[in-house]
Amino acid sequence: MINTSDVGGVVLYSDADHKFIWLGAESKQKSGVVQTMQYLIIDKGKGILLDPGGVHLFPRVVASVSRYINLDDIVTIFFSHQDPDVSSGIALWLGVTQASIYISELWIRFLPHFGIVDPVRVKPIEKTGKFLTLPSGARMQFIPSHFMHSPGNYSLYDERSRILFSGDIGGGVFDEGKEELYADDFQKHIPVIEGFHKRLIASNAVARRWVDIVQALNPDIIAPQHGAIFRGASVKAFLAWLSTLQCGIDLLDNWYKE
Ligand SMILES: [Fe+2]
Ligand SMILES: [Fe+2]
Repeated sequence: MINTSDVGGVVLYSDADHKFIWLGAESKQKSGVVQTMQYLIIDKGKGILLDPGGVHLFPRVVASVSRYINLDDIVTIFFSHQDPDVSSGIALWLGVTQASIYISELWIRFLPHFGIVDPVRVKPIEKTGKFLTLPSGARMQFIPSHFMHSPGNYSLYDERSRILFSGDIGGGVFDEGKEELYADDFQKHIPVIEGFHKRLIASNAVARRWVDIVQALNPDIIAPQHGAIFRGASVKAFLAWLSTLQCGIDLLDNWYKE
C-alpha cells in the first residue's frame, strides 16, 4: 500500500531530455469523491500536464507540479474527455499557466461552463493532427478512444517513454486504505476495475477496437486516471482481459433491470 500524500510524485521514465511523472493521488478517498491521479511529462524543460482535474484538487496538483517544473513552463494540457474530474479546473489552469488545452472538438463548447475560457488556447484534437511534437523531437500520439467511456475520448501515447496515458480506461476504485500504485498482480486487480469498465465502456466492440490499436503500439506502461498503473506483464494481461470483456450495451438488461 502506498501513502501517496507523502510521496508527492514518482518518476515513471527519465532520460536526459524527457521525464514522465506520476504526480500523486488523494491518499484517502474523500467521501463521495472519486480518487484521481495526474501526470506530468517534461521534455527539454517544457511541461505537458495530463488530466489535471477539478477545483478541489487544484492546490495539491499545483504543489506536486511545482516540485518538478515552473508553472510558466507548462505549455500543453491534455484533457482525455469532458468529465469534471478531468477538466473542471480549466479556468484555474489557464490562469496560472500559458498552456494550450487539447481536447476532443466535441467538448469545446461545453468547457466555458467550467469558467472563463480563452477559446484561442483550446485546440480540438480532430483538427490538430494525430501527433504532438515536443521540443526534443519526441512525439506524442492522440489515440482515439471514443465511447470508452466518453463519445469524444482520447488516450495519449508518449512514444519516447513508451507510456500510454489512458484516461478512464484501466481505471479502478480501491476500497479505502487499499490503494496500490502498481497493478502488478492483475488477477487480484480485476475486482478493482471490473465494475468501472462493465458500466462505463459502451460495448465490447469499442473495447476491442481500442485494444487493437494499443497492442500495435506495445506500450511498456499503461497509466490511467484512476486506480493503479499497469507495467510489465500486467499491461498485456489487462489488454487481453479488456478485449473479451462484455460491457455497456452488451449487458443492457443489467442496467435496466428493476
Ligand atoms: Fe470520465
Ligand atoms: Fe475519470
